[in-house]
Amino acid sequence: MGGWNRKKPYAATSDNVNYVYFLSREFSGIPADRSPNPKPPVTRVPLTPTPAYSRTMDANTNPATLRVGMVGLGMIFEETYRSFFEQVAKRGLFQRSTGPVEIELAAVATRTGTRAERYRAGAPVQLRRFESFTGDGAVARLAESELNVVCVASPDDRHFEAALAALMAGKHVLIEKPSVLSLPELDQLSEVARRNRLLAKVVYHKLLDPDHKKLRTLVVDGTLQHVNNGYCSLLEPKSISGGQFAEWIVGRNPATYVAVHYLKLIDFTFGSDCQLNRISATGQRGLVGTPESSTWDSVQLQVSYRYPDSREATFDIHTSWVTPDNFPGYVEQEVQFRFDNGIWLAHQRKRGVELAIEGRTPHEHKNTPNHHYNGTFLEPWGERSQRGYGIEVLERFFGEVAQVEFGGPKSEREDRLNQLQTLRYNDLSADRNCVAIVQALEAILHEHAAGNPGCSVVVNSAAGGLVLQRPGSALQNVLYAAPV
Ligand SMILES: NC(=O)c1ccc[n+]([C@@H]2O[C@H](COP(=O)([O-])OP(=O)(O)OC[C@H]3O[C@@H](n4cnc5c(N)ncnc54)[C@H](O)[C@@H]3O)[C@@H](O)[C@H]2O)c1
Repeated sequence: MGGWNRKKPYAATSDNVNYVYFLSREFSGIPADRSPNPKPPVTRVPLTPTPAYSRTMDANTNPATLRVGMVGLGMIFEETYRSFFEQVAKRGLFQRSTGPVEIELAAVATRTGTRAERYRAGAPVQLRRFESFTGDGAVARLAESELNVVCVASPDDRHFEAALAALMAGKHVLIEKPSVLSLPELDQLSEVARRNRLLAKVVYHKLLDPDHKKLRTLVVDGTLQHVNNGYCSLLEPKSISGGQFAEWIVGRNPATYVAVHYLKLIDFTFGSDCQLNRISATGQRGLVGTPESSTWDSVQLQVSYRYPDSREATFDIHTSWVTPDNFPGYVEQEVQFRFDNGIWLAHQRKRGVELAIEGRTPHEHKNTPNHHYNGTFLEPWGERSQRGYGIEVLERFFGEVAQVEFGGPKSEREDRLNQLQTLRYNDLSADRNCVAIVQALEAILHEHAAGNPGCSVVVNSAAGGLVLQRPGSALQNVLYAAPV
């Protein structure tokens, strides 16, 4: 990990990893203007036909190769993508239907290029050949270059433009969570992907956590019946708000960034039986910013679903980025779901291991490590490895792209694409409820900071798809007119 600034400890993800990366932000140019109620660009961009390049991919290409562009080389790249690209460069990607497929990191786009050159200097030889685009227009130039896939891992208010440029240029796209911040943005990306016959997917790695897979298995099999309510909490340390994110945190809240993990878990696990119905939120200020500011320390979000028989299910999701830095788990996460016939309680880091090393826990090593997400290991056969569901989710995505492009005759590409677009766990078209909740949450917090606390958003009422209501006021603000 050449080049990482070893000053501030930062357990770089929302999951509790068993090691700590030390990093500083590459540049100070992340604008403070991450508006709490962002106005999505509404200009409709003309759709282009799929360019000839992606049409040339065929099972006869020898060797079958997917050339990948990466937008953003920050913490999540270092944590998961880097390891994926390095491993797949060694062993390729293999499925019986596709045969071996090479995955090549061919280009990156970052603000300044500093991290790109740092990575190049320390990367394995076969990964040093990528082209580096920087500065204004870097993403557009990357999107237009000879690639098959673009992964978007820039700050979340910059996902939309990058993903749109890539899809318009005929590239399959993978976006880090939260995919985008409003439904009009989601609509536009889904439409371009559909018209250009491409995959557009989003990373929610918690769906691949073995515990969450088991929860969903019990629900789908009818063993756990009819969820009624539940809570999830994800608490990040102060060093996140005071260090890692300090440059862009003005006007932001911890919920958009991390509550989406649990919003997706809830929606994917329970949402097929019921409809999203209401969203409300409140929060606290005064530590990261002033009590009057629009910068939030912690947020409590409540989301209700309605079943066809009029029964309801309600979930509270608590998030924070002001937990003490010396908290033993660093990132604290737990869930509880109550059903008609059962209860499920899970704790991300209390999965059995407790560890203390003088002078090294809880910062460098965790007291209660979660080795499921992403851990570094010495395998029994002597190999050093990095593995876990944070990396597995990327391998799945590339397997899906390989399946579309190389998984059978070119004449059947359309069938393979259609089939993979139906996967609700990662397809952008299935991210509507999560994006709707994020859009509603941002609007509610914006109203709160403007002196109107206690607003709520009703979903799919006669007045519109997302309608904001202020307490004591008959006025309604339609955030999104079409049905969610
Ligand atoms: N799946 C997860 O658990 C998880 C965890 C952390 C972050 N994320 C998501 O990953 C994304 C990136 O987060 P991060 O923590 O890695 O951020 P970061 O601040 O560490 O890195 C951001 C990167 O984006 C680049 N960048 C910024 N603006 C750009 C632009 N306009 N054009 C090109 N590059 C640009 C920067 O150069 C930098 O390399 C966010 O959407 C975040 O929510 C996901």
